[in-house]
Order: sequence, then C-alpha cells, then structure tokens
Amino acid sequence: MRTQVGIVGAGPAGLMLSHLLHLEGIESVVLEAHSRHYVEQRVRAGVLEQGTVDLLIETGVGDRLKQQGLIHRGIELSFGGRRHRIDFSNLTPGRAITVYAQHEVIKDLIQARLEAGGLIHFAVSDISLHGLGTSTPAIGFRKGDELRELECDFIAGCDGSHGISRASIPARALKVFERAYPFAWLGVLAEAAPASEELIYTYHERGFALFSMRSPKITRLYLQCAPGEDMANWPDARIWEELQARLATSDGWRPAEGPILQKGITGMRSLVAEPMQFGRLFLAGDAAHIVPPTGAKGMNLAIADVRVLARALAEFYASGRRELLDRYSATCLRRVWKVQRFSWWMTSMLHRFDA
Ligand code: FAD
Ligand code: PHB
Repeated sequence: MRTQVGIVGAGPAGLMLSHLLHLEGIESVVLEAHSRHYVEQRVRAGVLEQGTVDLLIETGVGDRLKQQGLIHRGIELSFGGRRHRIDFSNLTPGRAITVYAQHEVIKDLIQARLEAGGLIHFAVSDISLHGLGTSTPAIGFRKGDELRELECDFIAGCDGSHGISRASIPARALKVFERAYPFAWLGVLAEAAPASEELIYTYHERGFALFSMRSPKITRLYLQCAPGEDMANWPDARIWEELQARLATSDGWRPAEGPILQKGITGMRSLVAEPMQFGRLFLAGDAAHIVPPTGAKGMNLAIADVRVLARALAEFYASGRRELLDRYSATCLRRVWKVQRFSWWMTSMLHRFDA
C-alpha cells in the first residue's frame, strides 16, 4: 500500500487533517486502533471555539453543527455562591463558543471522508513507524490476521496522548515538559434540561465544579475529585449531592437532576513535546501536547495544528518548497505555549490544590 500522507489516529486531528489534505488534492490513509462505533460514541470535549467552527463550516463539514450547535456569547464564573458573567460580545469582535459534542464532529468528518472515497482503516493494531529519517517512511500495522505496510511521503502522528507516534521519536531528539495536577475530574452526562443557558465554572471550598450541556435535553457536569478515585465510591446520589453543594448559588439557582447516562474520571495533565517533528514524522494534537480541560482548549488546539500542517504539506506538493514544513513545530508551539499558560492559569484559579 502507498499513499502521500499516512495518518495515525482518527480523532479530531487525524480526521480533520485527512479532510483538509483531500481539499488540497493530497491523498492520505488514516489508521485507527478502535472501531468506527467506538470513536463515534466516545464522550470527550464539547466546546468549539470560533476558529474551529469557522473552519468546519468553510470546509463543508458544518451542516449539522449549524443546525444543532448551541451558540454561547458568554460564560459564568462563580465564587462564594456569586456569579460573574464574562461577556464575549463586549470583549471580542463578535466571537462566540459553540457547544457541539466532539463525537458529533468525529461523525461529520468520518462521513465526509468516506463519501469522498477516503480510506480509514478502523480497528488496526500493532502499529509501528519506520524510516522516519528517510524520504520513504512507512507504517506497519495489523488488520485482522494480516500484517501490512503503508509506504508514504510523510507520517502525521495524530494518535493522542497514549499513542505510539511521540514514543517513536528517539528520546535524545525530544524535550518533554510535563506537570501532573493533584486532582482529576469526574464527568457525568445527565438526561436533564440544562437549568442555565450558559456554562458555569465554579470555585468552591469542596472543590471545582463545572456546569455544561450537550443539547436542550442533556446536561454535562464535572466535579473535582482525587486523581486515583474509584468510580465505585461515587454512586449517583453522592454525585448529585456534591454537584448541588458546589454549584448552588446564593440566589437559589441549582442544576436540574435526571438519570445519569454516562460517567467517567479524567486525570489532569499539562504536557508539551518539543519539537513537534522528527524527520518525516509530524505530531499534531494530543500526541504533541496535553492541556487540562478547564480552558476547553485541547480539541481546538488539535484542529489549529492540523490547519498549519495541511497548509505546509500543500505548499510542499504544489511547489516543492519545504519552508513551511520546516517551520511547522515552531509555528505551532507559539500557540501551544500560550494555550498551556491559559489552561494552567484557569485550572489554578478554579481548583483547590489541597482538597
Ligand atoms: P484523540 O482525540 O485522542 O484521538 C487520537 C486517536 O488515535 C484516537 O481515536 C485513538 O483511538 C487513536 N489511537 C491511539 N493510539 C493509537 C495507535 N497506537 N494506533 C492507532 N490509533 C491510535 N477540548 C476542547 O477543545 N474543548 C473541550 O470542551 C474539551 N473538553 C474535554 C473534556 C474532557 C473530559 C476531556 C478528557 C478532554 C476534553 N478536551 C476538550 C480535550 C479534547 O478531547 C482532546 O484534546 C482531543 O480529543 C484531541 O484530539 P486528537 O485528535 O489530538 O486526539
Ligand atoms: C464540556 O462541556 O465537556 C466542557 C466544557 C468546558 C470545559 C471542558 C469541558 O472547560
């Protein structure tokens, strides 16, 4: 098998890259460890920034987003039971955030790629990267009982924080900056109409809590918990009790309750790997950097990376010029460090470090 760009991972970074390359007339093949069903149901991010929304719409994958996305022109920060509204309309030139689940973006991108004849191999295993320092890199993988090799011009490592791409770069060629936080988030999806129209980020003496949503019928909530927390210690009644205690405001507002449809625990880390390229391998999204979710930045950053990468690859294929490719890491890292700083600051402002 041969293609121009071999992409490891069908998350937002890998799928968006494949879509952008297709629009530039560049071929790619995506290799994903999980099944299509799994990646289309996996509950992750929910907040898209304006730049992400604009890109999805401009590139023809924003129809469902335009119909179903909830546009928010502000957020609320709550301290001591009192809310403070951050009004995006007054503070920005008309920019907003849109609540639209990450797995819905994934569904839209997979459908667009498949309709355009794009190749995505789901449920592959034993992925290995070869010849990264040569002009003919290759990806080895297993599909069913068959071992295969995909030869390419370039490899995009879009396989998230636990993938093999970053680990395939020799340690001497990579600098990793990392910080683990002494807490995690317990997230729930509840069948309850959101009791507030906007997101509420809450600092409370019992720990951070976040009120968010997915649709007019589904509320998304998070609360700060211990990093190694066992879900067995969190029956639904305890989750509601804790959420009510932290989120209730002095004017009597409280979140509406309903059946919990899904719950999970997410650790909190900041990580940056420098540089984001090694020979013909380019890292994008969580494969290169992780931010704590407090700033709602991770997926947006993943999309920003692949926009830079797609432009650089387009220039290479159109003119043979390598300048943008050579500058890929430096260009991305300028934004990455700003976003790291913002996410760390927002996390520090809203969590208890001694809870
Ligand atoms: P991923 O989405 O992790 O995709 C990587 C893909 O690679 C996966 O499909 C994985 O199965 C696959 N893979 C892994 N290893 C291999 C392998 N060896 N071979 C082949 N495939 C492999 N971000 C926001 O912008 N806004 C938010 O509101 C927000 N909220 C969040 C809330 C939570 C609770 C969490 C956990 C994250 C949140 N994020 C948010 C972050 C966001 O979800 C991630 O930053 C985003 O998923 C990164 O996309 P990615 O494509 O880089 O990586
Ligand atoms: C979410 O709705 O899942 C969400 C919202 C804001 C964040 C993180 C996650 O900061």
